[in-house]
Amino acid sequence: MSLPTRHILVRGQVLHFLNDPGPTDDPGAWEFFDDGALWIADGRIRAAGPWPAICADLPPDVRHTAHLHDYQGKLILPGLVDTHLHYPQAGIMGSYGRQLLDWLNDYTFPAEARFAERAVAEKTAAFVVDRLLAHGTTTASVFATVHAHSVDAFFEAAETRQLRMLCGKVLMDRNCPAALQDTPARAREDSQALIERWHGKGRLGYTLTPRFAPTSSPAQLAVAGELLASRPDLHLQTHLAENRAEIAWVEHLFPEQPSYLGVYEHFGLVGPRTIFGHGIHLSKAERQRMAAAGAAVAFCPTSNAFLGSGAFDYAASTAAGLRVGLATDVGGGTGFSLIRTLAHAYEASQTHGTPLSALRGWYLATLGGARALYLDDHIGNFQPGREADFTVLDWTATPELAWRMDSTRNLAERLFALMILGDERCVEATHVMGEKCTSSDKKTTVS
Ligand code: GUN
Ligand code: ZN
Repeated sequence: MSLPTRHILVRGQVLHFLNDPGPTDDPGAWEFFDDGALWIADGRIRAAGPWPAICADLPPDVRHTAHLHDYQGKLILPGLVDTHLHYPQAGIMGSYGRQLLDWLNDYTFPAEARFAERAVAEKTAAFVVDRLLAHGTTTASVFATVHAHSVDAFFEAAETRQLRMLCGKVLMDRNCPAALQDTPARAREDSQALIERWHGKGRLGYTLTPRFAPTSSPAQLAVAGELLASRPDLHLQTHLAENRAEIAWVEHLFPEQPSYLGVYEHFGLVGPRTIFGHGIHLSKAERQRMAAAGAAVAFCPTSNAFLGSGAFDYAASTAAGLRVGLATDVGGGTGFSLIRTLAHAYEASQTHGTPLSALRGWYLATLGGARALYLDDHIGNFQPGREADFTVLDWTATPELAWRMDSTRNLAERLFALMILGDERCVEATHVMGEKCTSSDKKTTVS
């Protein structure tokens, strides 16, 4: 006998995006229900809309048995999507970096070497997953370390919490400490075994993860390309054009290739479901080639500022047709909060003279990320059938926010103040597949 359907009703100020609002804030791209509702059945959205209309449509048995979460006056958004982070680097956030290559050698590689011990990976994975939820993030594209068990640890932590997550073992066979080196053959064996174990299990997806061109031999990049060609449903993540010294190094290591992007193109690594971290120093033609291939860039503004890498040009990238998601890039980034990250994205956009609007910002952190990861059939908004991952934000979580909100005149101003002044203190609750998974549970039934 099948279990009865579990119905959940959520009441609050519901905002979600149907499309990219674009540079002119297209009003058809989003829906906002001031007294809004989500009706969730067995973890998926059945309907989203005004509370009175949703209630009027409910069959009487559902109305009487549904669990109610009452968040009136709070903002309900689809779960935030972090399109690029390194879970093993949680413990080195805030390490004096100078620039990328020094920071990798001085802090990152030693931290990742400690993941040879499985217990370190398990403890860190549980910590990171819980902190993501506490920050309103429900899906992420995650780098593990070169150790296969670091992926097992992360996926186990995600599976326990029923999260939709992407993760992969870092492939790295040169220009790094011996303790962190694999080989082309090992890269193939480990990746294949992890794909067998995890890809498509529940809500989990495997991501081929060559760290970046300088730490993989041509033979290893060829293995990554072969694996991707053999399983086009896999994702692939790496880094691209983050830092000037890094770019010069790639040109030195691959003199036969026309450019950094050209290296990845040569090995068949640029396609749909490829997510490039950073992508700061790219030409218009390169952005267009990536867009035509269906690839995405993870916009990592806190990390880009922290490591002095430069300011990603969001407006030029989207104008070229590129998919762009928001990312913390922990531990180059300075925290797990995508809300704080939005404030930095705004500042980066200002340096290019194209300020990011609040509507486009919240799109970027939700549906934009889901689209960048090709997960928008599952998550990213509240269309019927989507998995009901969402976060509940308190507009007035700090005295400064409360003071500012007092004088806002419309929704766009409120959303802008929230993205600039907000942070994880605003996260009242996070729900996964409809169920509340942070803070105390106050479920009641509809009267
Ligand atoms: N490039 C190669 N590895 C890394 C990393 O761990 N962090 C960042 N920000 N850039 C990288
Ligand atoms: Zn990164």
